[in-house]
Amino acid sequence: MKAIILAGGYATRLRPLSCSNPKLLFPIVGVPLIDHMVNWLGEAGVDDIILAVNHLSDRLRTEIGPERLGSRITFSIEENPLGTAGPIRLAKDQLDDEPFVVVNGDIVSDFDLKHMIKSHESSSAKATIGLTTVRDPRPYGTVDTNNSGMITKFEEKSKVRKRHEINAGVYILDPSVIQLIPPAIACSMERMIFPKLVEENQIWGWKHAGYWYDIGTIPEYLRANKELLKHYRPKRTLKTAHEEATTTVQREAAGQMSGSQLLERRSAHAETNPSATIKEPCYVGEGSVLHRGASLGPGAILSRGVAVDGGTRVRDSIIFEYTSLGRNCVVEGAIIGERVSIGAGTRIGRGAIIAGEVNVPSHSLIKQKAVILN
Ligand code: GDD
Ligand code: MG
Repeated sequence: MKAIILAGGYATRLRPLSCSNPKLLFPIVGVPLIDHMVNWLGEAGVDDIILAVNHLSDRLRTEIGPERLGSRITFSIEENPLGTAGPIRLAKDQLDDEPFVVVNGDIVSDFDLKHMIKSHESSSAKATIGLTTVRDPRPYGTVDTNNSGMITKFEEKSKVRKRHEINAGVYILDPSVIQLIPPAIACSMERMIFPKLVEENQIWGWKHAGYWYDIGTIPEYLRANKELLKHYRPKRTLKTAHEEATTTVQREAAGQMSGSQLLERRSAHAETNPSATIKEPCYVGEGSVLHRGASLGPGAILSRGVAVDGGTRVRDSIIFEYTSLGRNCVVEGAIIGERVSIGAGTRIGRGAIIAGEVNVPSHSLIKQKAVILN
């Protein structure tokens, strides 16, 4: 089965981190979101993935390539953003004449996609929407269902303030749905296509009970990392990391990895000086180096290739890939983008965000909640 990941748009709610880094490459517990998604789709046998993109598409193509974790990746590139439905119409010729998966490109969940696909196949509906329940549904699309599970109402960004079922951004669509989408213009699945299908009594709701995050805003991005970090406890001493790498690669060859195996694999080959201290929970990405006397955690997440120099303390923070922290820095409650260089003796306050590719001079004092742009 094929899938389209909707990964266009400008991710304005994740600025400034999204200015240089597309959402799909944002690390979730140190592993790029695309890998979480490809792995999750692959577990359900969906291993032919079309990325519908526009903004930063060159970067995505170079970084992601034609194959990822054993799945084939192709691109469908819009010249101008076509919304959430237009890209599905644009990718029509890349799809087969059978049902396919569509997923918003900012979702991390343990959705049982295999069951969802089966449930779609045994229903007579043209579309199945994955549903989850949230406390405040206002940023989402709210959904009402009847006793037999058919969706009777779909309202994008409703004013409902209390706990409600919402569209989780995961769909199985019959090819006939593509005909409802006008070609070559921007069009919204949620505002134009779903309401039409609801009128025809053609959407089945599939209820998800596990975890679910839309990482499209900074607070939700932080929440996803924090909660998933507790979920996974990868080992990281050099020797066991090497053994894990070997066994995980074998497991990968035998079939798909589970989410936690994916994280274990990525934390292999981190170098930790014996005098560095790590207070759990923490995640240290592949190729990261903790120098003598560095201190990590709790709540520190380092993506791949991060260097933490001697005497530097990092807690409750997310550091994107290939960033280096000089000697004797203090980083608390911050997010630091990719390929940033932080000069020695710098202090970074709670809630601060540093955009990708920035150089911070030595002995800087970055105030709480400061946003540092490139
Ligand atoms: N290719 C392409 N082109 N993708 C786009 C475009 C575009 O023009 N515009 C948005 N997208 C992608 C985004 O990158 C994102 O992955 C997905 O479509 C959904 O857009 P968001 O901007 O993240 O929407 P949202 O989070 O406000 O609401 C959507 O997701 C909720 C669940 O997280 C809706 O589908 C809601 O109904 C839903 O509840
Ligand atoms: Mg979103």
